[in-house]
Amino acid sequence: MSRVNLELKAHDRDPAATAARCLALGATDGGVLRQTDTYFAARRGRLKLRVEEGALGGELIAYRRDNATEAVKSGYVLAAVAAPEELAEALDAALGTVVVVSKRRHLFLWDGVRIHLDEVEGLGGFVEFEAVLPDAGDLATARAKVDRLRTELEISEDALVAVGYSDLLIDGPQALLRAASEAMENAYAPYSEFKVGAAVRGRSGTIYAGANVENVAYPQGQCAEASALGAMVAAGETAITAVAVVAERVDVCPPCGGCRQRLSEFGDAATPVYLGPTTTTLGELLPGAFDRGALA
Ligand code: THU
Repeated sequence: MSRVNLELKAHDRDPAATAARCLALGATDGGVLRQTDTYFAARRGRLKLRVEEGALGGELIAYRRDNATEAVKSGYVLAAVAAPEELAEALDAALGTVVVVSKRRHLFLWDGVRIHLDEVEGLGGFVEFEAVLPDAGDLATARAKVDRLRTELEISEDALVAVGYSDLLIDGPQALLRAASEAMENAYAPYSEFKVGAAVRGRSGTIYAGANVENVAYPQGQCAEASALGAMVAAGETAITAVAVVAERVDVCPPCGGCRQRLSEFGDAATPVYLGPTTTTLGELLPGAFDRGALA
C-alpha cells in the first residue's frame, strides 16, 4: 500500500516544555516507543528496517522525500516483517548497511497529526509532525494543522531541519567509521599484521573506503588512506568533506605523515578526521602543509 504523509521536523532543546504544550493543546499522550531503524544502501530512495522494542516483528519501509524545511509530502511503502533480525542480516549481506538510527520516541496524537518528541542517539532532541493524508488527501487542511502546531509549540525558523535523522548521522562520524571498519576487515597485512581501514566522504556525499595492501617487497605496500583516495578518484571525485581511519589493534590510529599529505591534497584545514573515538582536523594533523600556494 502506498500512503502519503505531511511532515515537519525541528531541533528541540526543551522536550519537557514541548510535551507540556502538546498536553495543553489537548493532544493525547501515546506513550514512549524505542525504535531502531537500520538503513540499507538502496538503488532508489531510502530503505529502512524498523524494529520497535517489545514488538514481535518489524517493518520494512521504502520511501522517498525531498529535503526541505517546509512541511513536505512523503510517499512510502510499508511491509510487515515477521523475522526482522534475519531480514537485517540478508539485506546487510546483499546491499550493505549505511547507518543505524536508534531513538526514544514520545508519541502524542492531535487532530489526526502524530507528534513525535524524539531523543536520537548521537543527535539529540527533535520534534516532528506527521499528518497522515487520507486517500483523497486534503493537503490544505493537513498543512493548516501542521502550521498551527508549529505556532503553538513555538518552533522557530532556525530550528527547522530539512533532512532525515539518517542523513544527519551519515554526515557525522558513524557511517564513515563503519565503512572504514568494514574495509579494515579485508586489509591485506600479512607482514605487519596491522590491519587499517580508511574512508573518505566525497563532496557528492558518497563514501569511499580502502584498506592497507602490503607486499612481500615491503616498500611496495600501500596505506589504507591511499586506497580510499584511489577509489574516490576512480569514481570521478576530487574533493573530500570528511575522513575516518581505524585500525584493528589500536583505538586511535594516527595517519602516517605521507597520508596526512595525501589527504590534504583533497580536503582543507577544517576537514574533520575521525580517528576511532576522537575527532581532529586535517589542519591539526598537518600544520603548515605544503600546498598549492607553495608552487605559485
Ligand atoms: N598504515 C596505514 O594503512 N595507514 C596509516 O596511516 C599508518 C600505517 C599501514 C601500513 C602498513 O601496512 C601497516 O599499517 C603497518 O605500518
